Amino acid sequence: MHKSALSVESVESGLSSDLGNIVFDNLHPTQADSSREIENGLNLKQKFINPKFFYDTRGSELFEQITSTLEYYPTRIERSILENNAEAIANCCGLNCVLIEPGSGSSEKVRLLLDQIEPSAYVPIDIAAEFLQRSAKKLAEEFPWLNVHAVCADFAVFGDVPERLPEGKRVIFYPGSTLGNMIPDEAQQFLRYLRGWLGHDGGALIGIDLHKSADILNLAYNDKQGVTAAFNINVLNNINHLTNANFKTDNFEHYAFYNEEKQRIEMHLVSVLDHIVRLGDNAIAFSEGESIHTENSYKYTLESFRELIEGAGFVIKSSWLDEDQLFSVHYLELDGRDIENQT
Ligand code: SAH
Ligand code: AVI
Repeated sequence: MHKSALSVESVESGLSSDLGNIVFDNLHPTQADSSREIENGLNLKQKFINPKFFYDTRGSELFEQITSTLEYYPTRIERSILENNAEAIANCCGLNCVLIEPGSGSSEKVRLLLDQIEPSAYVPIDIAAEFLQRSAKKLAEEFPWLNVHAVCADFAVFGDVPERLPEGKRVIFYPGSTLGNMIPDEAQQFLRYLRGWLGHDGGALIGIDLHKSADILNLAYNDKQGVTAAFNINVLNNINHLTNANFKTDNFEHYAFYNEEKQRIEMHLVSVLDHIVRLGDNAIAFSEGESIHTENSYKYTLESFRELIEGAGFVIKSSWLDEDQLFSVHYLELDGRDIENQT
C-alpha cells in the first residue's frame, strides 16, 4: 500500500531530510515579481496589498496562533465538521486520489482525513517556503506511508500543475475559507482555473465561512490578545524584506470591520500620521488616517456559494455544516459541461 514513488524530481530541494516519502518543488515567485505587484498595489488610490504577502514565516506562525484564539471560530468549527464527517468525505473522494491543498499552511486539517482517504499522494502548495518545508517534513514523518509532494508556489499563477503532479484522480482540498479572501469574481475565475487541474473525474473539497451576525465576525478579526493585529502589522515587515522598503510598523494600526453591504470582513492598516515611506526608488505618501487595504474575507450564504461554484462549472455533491450553521464544507464535482461554452 502507498508505495508508489513520485515521478517529479525536486527542482531545488531545501529539505534537510532523509525521508524517502517527500519531494520539495520550489516555484516561488521571484522577488522582482513580488516587488512589482506590491508597488502597483501601493500606487492605487485605495492602497492595497494582496493578502498572500502576510505569509512569510512569522506571518504563517501568527496565522497559526490566530486559529487557536477564542474569537476565531472558523478553524475550530471546520475541524469539527471534518472530524465528524470524515467517512462520508472519504467516500466522496474515493481511495487513492491525489489530494492537492492550495494554501496548505501547517497541513493540520488534512491529518483529520488521511487515514480515511488514504491518498496515493498529498500535494501541499504554499507561498511560505520555510513554513511549508517544515510542515511537510513533520507530516511525512508522522505518516510514513504517505507520499508528500510539497510545492512552494503562488497557487493562483502555478499553471502547469497537471503535468507536474502524480497520476490518478485528483481532489483539491481547499479548507479554511481561503477562497473567501478573493473577491467573488476572482474566486469564480480561480475555480474555473482549478478545473484544469482536475481532469474529468476530479473533485474539490472546499471549506467556506458563512454569513452570520456582525458581532461574531467583528470579534473574530479583533481578538483580545491582539494576535490578528500583529498578523496584519507583520505584513509590513515582509514588504520591507521583499521590496527594500522602510515601513515602520509603529506608524500603522490594525483596523478590521464587517462590511455588511459587501458581506466581507475588511482588514486595513491605518497610518497614524502624515509620513512618507521609501519603496525601492519610489516615495509613497501617507496622510494621517489613510489606510492600506490588506485583506477581504468574504462570507457566503449557502445560496450565494452555490451560485459561485455553479458559475465556475461545478456542482455540489454533498455539504456538511455545524449545527449552528457557522461554517460549511462542500464536496464539488465537475458539471460535465465544457467550461468554454458556458454563458
Ligand atoms: N489551509 C490551512 C491554512 C489556511 S491560511 C487551513 O485551512 O488552516 C492560508 C494559507 O494560504 C497560508 O498558509 C498562506 O501562506 C497560503 N496562501 C495564501 N495565498 C497564497 C497564494 N496566492 N499562493 C500560495 N499560497 C497562498
Ligand atoms: C486564510 N484566511 C481565510 C483567513 C481569513 O479568515 O480570512 C486569514 C485571516 N485573516 C485574519 N484572520 C485570519
